[in-house]
Amino acid sequence: MKRVLSGIQPSGSLHIGNYFGMMNRMIKYQEENELFTCIVNYHALTTINNPEVLRNNTVNAALDFLALGLDPKKSTFWIQADVPQVTEFTWIISNVTNVGLIERSTSYKDKISKGFMPNMGLFNYPLLMASDILCFESDIVPVGKDQKQHLEIARDIAIKFNNIYGDILVVPEEDIDKDTQLVPGIDGQKMSKSYNNIIPIFGDETFIKKQIMSIVTDSTPVDQPKDLNSPLYRLFALFLSDKDKILLQNKFLSPGLQYGKVKSDLFDIVMEYFRPFRDRREYLSKNLDDVVSQLIIGSEKATSVADTIIDKVRTATGLNYHLR
Ligand code: ADP
Ligand code: TRP
Repeated sequence: MKRVLSGIQPSGSLHIGNYFGMMNRMIKYQEENELFTCIVNYHALTTINNPEVLRNNTVNAALDFLALGLDPKKSTFWIQADVPQVTEFTWIISNVTNVGLIERSTSYKDKISKGFMPNMGLFNYPLLMASDILCFESDIVPVGKDQKQHLEIARDIAIKFNNIYGDILVVPEEDIDKDTQLVPGIDGQKMSKSYNNIIPIFGDETFIKKQIMSIVTDSTPVDQPKDLNSPLYRLFALFLSDKDKILLQNKFLSPGLQYGKVKSDLFDIVMEYFRPFRDRREYLSKNLDDVVSQLIIGSEKATSVADTIIDKVRTATGLNYHLR
């Protein structure tokens, strides 16, 4: 049985890019693997400095995961800052990490170019993520394509550590699904909370409709075949079986297709697909005490795993000075 781990920042509304890029695969893993799922609030501290926002986002992210089917009985589910061992781990691995490796991080440069303050938290972000992964001996890490470089950094660090101290850390494998690695937003760029181009899963139905009706389309005349690379086709295809995808392709390639009608069908499908999750989220949000209790149990499980691995690392590095 493999150990699968992933995390998500509590940084705003969950969207269908997060869902198809990573969350639904994660949740499937809980059936046959050992799943570790973490809401990474230390990471969110790099860009959120309003305590109320961070608190609310953290609870909301937990509700989102549970509503989508994450089962805390089958998976270890916790809030990152409830297991501060990862920050100790970050310090230890920072000593085998070349500054150049982190300087090449494109996500740091992206954030700075978007106007975020270049603080050390942002710079160290990939190291903390490497700790999340290595501190729990993760074999597989499901993520979208934008996290590929972070995964490579985590692997590099594990290999470097093992070269110095022996075969201590597990070198993780990335799990990026080629069909869903980059879900487009309604403007055709990568869907992202930071680009105002999302289709949210939860929240206001009117807003979801407005977003779907605003998906960019081209000006191909009605009697001409339409582009199968368009964001509208790609978004719609996420919800279809292989057989239904062929039917949609035929529609796109035949004359007469009207974008407005396709968008309104897509809205119906999105609502139908997520309805049970939306209902469940509504229910969970009225039982927040239960959710918090589940998170505490999760943090206890995660702590005991992290303690064992940190102890190995302390011994390997000589920090456990009393052991000879
Ligand atoms: P955002 O870019 O909206 O802030 P996050 O960085 O919180 O999203 O991403 C959480 C997870 O969802 C990561 O594993 C990321 O790779 C995945 N993800 C985010 N956006 C997309 C997308 N448009 N397509 C595929 N996966 C995505
Ligand atoms: N950096 C990831 C993101 O923005 C979140 C993350 C933090 C993560 N720690 C992780 C993902 C460990 C996978 C494994 O999406």
